Amino acid sequence: MNKSILLTGGTGYIGSHTTLELLNNGYEVVVIDNLSNSSRESLKRVEQLTQKSVTFAQVDVRDAEALNQVFENHNIQSVLHFAGHKAVGESVEKPIQYYQNNVAGTLTLCEVMARNNVFELIFSSSATVYGANAQSPISESMPIGATTNPYGTSKYMVERMLMDLAASDPRWRIATLRYFNPVGAHRSGQIGEDPNGIPNNLVPFVSQVAVGKLDQLQVFGNDYDTTDGTGVRDYIHVVDLALGHIAALRYMDSHQGFEAFNLGTGKGYSVLEVVDAFEQQSGLNIPYTVAQRRPGDIAKCFANPEKASKLLGWQAKCELAEMMRDTWHWQSQNPNGYDQ
Ligand code: WQD
Repeated sequence: MNKSILLTGGTGYIGSHTTLELLNNGYEVVVIDNLSNSSRESLKRVEQLTQKSVTFAQVDVRDAEALNQVFENHNIQSVLHFAGHKAVGESVEKPIQYYQNNVAGTLTLCEVMARNNVFELIFSSSATVYGANAQSPISESMPIGATTNPYGTSKYMVERMLMDLAASDPRWRIATLRYFNPVGAHRSGQIGEDPNGIPNNLVPFVSQVAVGKLDQLQVFGNDYDTTDGTGVRDYIHVVDLALGHIAALRYMDSHQGFEAFNLGTGKGYSVLEVVDAFEQQSGLNIPYTVAQRRPGDIAKCFANPEKASKLLGWQAKCELAEMMRDTWHWQSQNPNGYDQ
């Protein structure tokens, strides 16, 4: 049996783009997903684009027996763990779901991995683990844990758990990848982000205004200490992010223990700069009003991406214009996402 990479949550936004890049780089891929917040259609499109096939099983990471079966049926070399809930606001209302899915789910996954002698894990973490007081540019050596919502805390708790795991047994090789703000879509416009309901994040919101599904953007605050007063973030093209996972896989093949990496560009853009770049790429006007600051938001958040550059040999390449071009390409071709 050939060795495969297992992706949990592989039909989601970042998982589907990573599946595509893995296939294009010659990896065999097994995807599991409970399809609670994603569509099987994304993988069908990945298969069309790559002309390669993906093994898929509808499995929830909390289901230890079903998960074990996946490890018994395939020769899994490494696990990329994307599966998890990701909406900040929802996590405040439903903390049990977030800790169940994100924390208990990861614990079950690790237990089943160890049972099957698989010890290489790449975890989808978030810049949110640095908390609200971190000064940008943010380095991996800065403290983590001052999180402000259950979503962020769940990512932090998993990181702590994985550190302890790596310290307990030298066979573990664990990389935690702290994503900044993933945006954009595959160049083909065939796969992209397909949020449920009204988007919480800036770029999906803007692109739904562009296709007429939403009336106007609310800019959450223009009195921050930034160039134009609106919040500054480190937007990273999802394909660059996907390639970061491949770089991390290669690195972990020859490094044991636990390592954290920021995946960001190192550059920050304000809300209004993002809107402007989107307007230029789409040729459309995006109406907006300025609203109150969103609770929990900070003025600036961007990465120091040097560690990933030095150790993984990986750097984000796409500029904001390309991110907005590809977002628009996907959204305009798929105004209802995967729901045709
Ligand atoms: C970006 C900027 C907003 C929406 C969050 C999570 C993080 C990660 C990614 C992932 C901010 C402003 C937004 C809108 C606006 N989660 N904005 N109007 O807040 O950096 O990060 O998503 O899985 O953990 O915290 O991203 O896209 O929500 O906001 O003005 O309608 O856009 O205030 O300055 P954020 P975002």
